[in-house]
Amino acid sequence: MNGIKIRGTGRCVPAHIVTNSDLSQIVDTSDEWITARTGIQRRRHCTSETHASLCTGAAREALKRSGAAPEDIGAVIVATVTADTLVPSAACLLQRELELPGDIPCFDLNAACTGFLFALHTMECLLNASPRKYGLVVGCEELSRVINWEDRGTCILFGDGAGAAVVECREGFPSIGAVLGCHGDDQILRLPGVEAGERSLIAMEGTKVFKFAVEAVPWCVDQVLQKSGLAVEDVDFFVFHQANARIIDLAVRKYRIPADKYYKNIGEYGNTSAASIPLVLSELQEQGRVKSGSRVLVVGFGGGLTWGGALIQFA
Ligand code: ACO
Repeated sequence: MNGIKIRGTGRCVPAHIVTNSDLSQIVDTSDEWITARTGIQRRRHCTSETHASLCTGAAREALKRSGAAPEDIGAVIVATVTADTLVPSAACLLQRELELPGDIPCFDLNAACTGFLFALHTMECLLNASPRKYGLVVGCEELSRVINWEDRGTCILFGDGAGAAVVECREGFPSIGAVLGCHGDDQILRLPGVEAGERSLIAMEGTKVFKFAVEAVPWCVDQVLQKSGLAVEDVDFFVFHQANARIIDLAVRKYRIPADKYYKNIGEYGNTSAASIPLVLSELQEQGRVKSGSRVLVVGFGGGLTWGGALIQFA
């Protein structure tokens, strides 16, 4: 099987910034508590933007940066749990907006915060069966729509945003070697969806998710290193799902990752679920911190429960 590399990334976030102090006007919390326990200082919430407009904004930027022509796109996957509608999918609307070919698979994928990694792996498989070389993978969430404003334990965590990547599949490219997993659990983290009737709201047992995450992250790192035959020092950059700065800090300490080899933007965006990893990737590419040939070890975890890791290269 041929592998994929990232050609171009993009992002789009709402204009409206919600600070921790803003939240302390709504629920019994404080800037000090939120910053100390999560590392989050701000997040963006949609006002005039929609899920579809965030998706389109991020995808357009990724397409432009990649240099790929719309007619060369062989598949579109949007990783999300908050699309405007279940049908049509966000990916189908993106196909229309960007005038992508009509004879390609376009669909949404739900693996909560691990969605972008599940989507990258799925894209690698799809492009091997496609006559076209490029694929569009988007992670997009409008989580502000499903926040429970009566739960101070969760309402402070989530933000809206979208990140996108145009990937290229070519003979000779190494596989991203994704390691993906799932442990079905309908108690720890739930977003009911259609069964909820009027409004579907996120419910989470935060401490249990935290414990799960601090085991899942090193498991993924170890598996990716083992599969790729690389040591920590051989990896150019580590990208972790931005759920809580303390989870990232634990991984950084465990693997002794130097400060210039990992990145946190959770302070700015909060937890944007499926968008969090591509948001980081787009900032890193824009800042020139990852470039052609960079080997980036990416780890995600979240609802499902789901987890995943991969070694991504930039073309
Ligand atoms: N402000 C002030 N106090 C608070 C707040 C708040 N916003 N939220 C909770 N508290 C209080 C609690 O009531 C509790 O008080 P008590 O001791 O008097 O009962 C105390 O703080 C400690 O609560 P915990 O829930 O134990 O706090 P914890 O340190 O675990 O932090 C948090 C909570 C931030 C949610 C943490 O558990 C976490 O980050 N979990 C992981 C979340 C995650 O990774 N999600 C990813 C998946 S999301 C997805 O897939 C959509």
